[in-house]
Amino acid sequence: MLKRWAPALLLTGCAATNTPPAPDFTAYVVLGEYGAAVARVLIDAPACPAIVLDQHSQPMTLRAPAQTIPLRPTPSAPADSKPADFPLLTCEATLPAGTTSATVLGRKLPLPKAAPTRIVVIGDTGCRLQKSSNSWQACNEAAQYPFATVAAQAAAWKPDLVIHVGDYHYRENACPDGNPGCAGSPWGYGWDAWDDDFFAPGARLLDAAPWIMTRGNHENCQRAGQGYWRFLDPRPLLPGRDCNAAADDDVGNYSDPYAVPIGQDTQLLVLDTANTTWKGLKPGDTGYARYQDHYRKLAALAQRAPRNLGISHHPLLGMGADSKADGRIVLLPGDAGLQASFGSLNPQLFPPQIQAMLSGHIHLWEQLSFSSGHPSQFVAGFAGTAEDIVPLPERLPPSPPPAPGAVVEHFSSWVDGFGFMTMERRGADQWDIEVHDLQGKIRNRCRLDGRRSACEVAQVR
Ligand SMILES: [Fe+2]
Repeated sequence: MLKRWAPALLLTGCAATNTPPAPDFTAYVVLGEYGAAVARVLIDAPACPAIVLDQHSQPMTLRAPAQTIPLRPTPSAPADSKPADFPLLTCEATLPAGTTSATVLGRKLPLPKAAPTRIVVIGDTGCRLQKSSNSWQACNEAAQYPFATVAAQAAAWKPDLVIHVGDYHYRENACPDGNPGCAGSPWGYGWDAWDDDFFAPGARLLDAAPWIMTRGNHENCQRAGQGYWRFLDPRPLLPGRDCNAAADDDVGNYSDPYAVPIGQDTQLLVLDTANTTWKGLKPGDTGYARYQDHYRKLAALAQRAPRNLGISHHPLLGMGADSKADGRIVLLPGDAGLQASFGSLNPQLFPPQIQAMLSGHIHLWEQLSFSSGHPSQFVAGFAGTAEDIVPLPERLPPSPPPAPGAVVEHFSSWVDGFGFMTMERRGADQWDIEVHDLQGKIRNRCRLDGRRSACEVAQVR
C-alpha cells in the first residue's frame, strides 16, 4: 500500500515533541447536483477533523461511522466472501461556491473552477481478482496494474476536473496461494481493498482536482455498492440507500441523474447505470422502468442548458469485441438493457442537447461519430484494469450497429494500451481530445465539434 503524506510528520520532522503525529488520512473533493462540491475525509480517528474554509474553521460532518457490515449476498460463494469492514470514519463538508481555500489537518484540498477547461477522463481502474472468471491480475506489478502511473501522469497534465467513468473496485476474491503477482492483496468489499484498488494508487490525481465519480457495475449493491455510497456518491448517505441489506437493493442500485455546470451554458450530466445488463431489459423488469424514469429526468436536466456532455459507465453507442471458442471474433454493440429502456422513449437514445457521451466498461479507448444524428461516443476504460485485448477492426462493418439505427461515420480505437484521455475546451461546442499513454505521450488526437468527432489515427498500435 502506498503511504500518503502525513503533514504533521513533515512539519515537525524528528524534533522531540509530545504532540502525536497527525494520522494518515485520505482526502478528496467530489462534485454533485448542480455542481455542489463536497470535501470528503476518510480517517481512523475518534471524531471527524475540522475543515478550514477561507481561514474559518468548522467541524466536518460524520457521513458514515467506522463499522463492519454483516455479510450480504454477493456474486461469490459465502466461502469466498466476507463482511465488509470499514474501520474508519467518512467525514464530509460542503464547500460553498466561491471558496478560495480549503484545508484539513494542514493538507490543501483541490477546489472546483466555475468554468473548467481541462478535463481528465479515466475509467475501469481497479485490479481484477475474480474467482468466477479465474482472473488474477498482477496487482503487485506496476506494468500489469498501472493505475498509480496513470494517476500520476494525469495529475502532471494539471486538470481542472477529473471524470471517473466508473468501475473502481475489482479485488473481489482472495489471490490464490502461490501467485506472486497478487500475493498479499486485500480482497472483498471493505476499506482495505478499496484503499489498495483506488484511493492509494489514485492519491496524486485525487489531490490534483475535484472529481466526478460515476458509478459502474462493479459498484452495484451486490458488489462494491457499500463503498460507493459511503465514499463516492456526492449526495447524502440515506438508510436503505447504502446497499447494506439485499432487501433494499431496488433502492440502492439506482440513483437519479444529476447535472454539473461547467461554464459557457454547458453541463455534464451524470448517469448511474450500475445495475443494467448487457442481456437486455424488457417491460416488467425493475430496471426497465427505473431507467425510463432516469431518461425522463436526464431529458429534463438537458433542457436546462443548450449543450451537455453525458457520462454513463456503460456505453450505449460503443463497440466491444469477444473471441469465441472456435476463434471467431464477434462484435458486441452497446448496452442492450439501456438501449431497450431509453429507446422505448426516444429511438435516438439521447436528448438532442447531448453533444457526446463519455463512458467506460469496455477496457480500451475508442471514439465513434455518427451520421445518424446520435451524439459522439468516447470510451475511456483503459486506466488500470486488465485490458480487453480482442482486436477491433480498423473500420466497423455496417452490421451489427452499436445501437439500432446508429450509422458510424468515424471510428477510432486503441486496444491493449493503458492510459488516460484528456479534453481541452476550444469553444462553446469544440473540444480537443487527446489519448495519452503511460509515459504521458500523446497517441491520438481528436476534435469534437457539436455532435461530430474525428481523430487523426483510426487504429492506435
Ligand atoms: Fe464495467
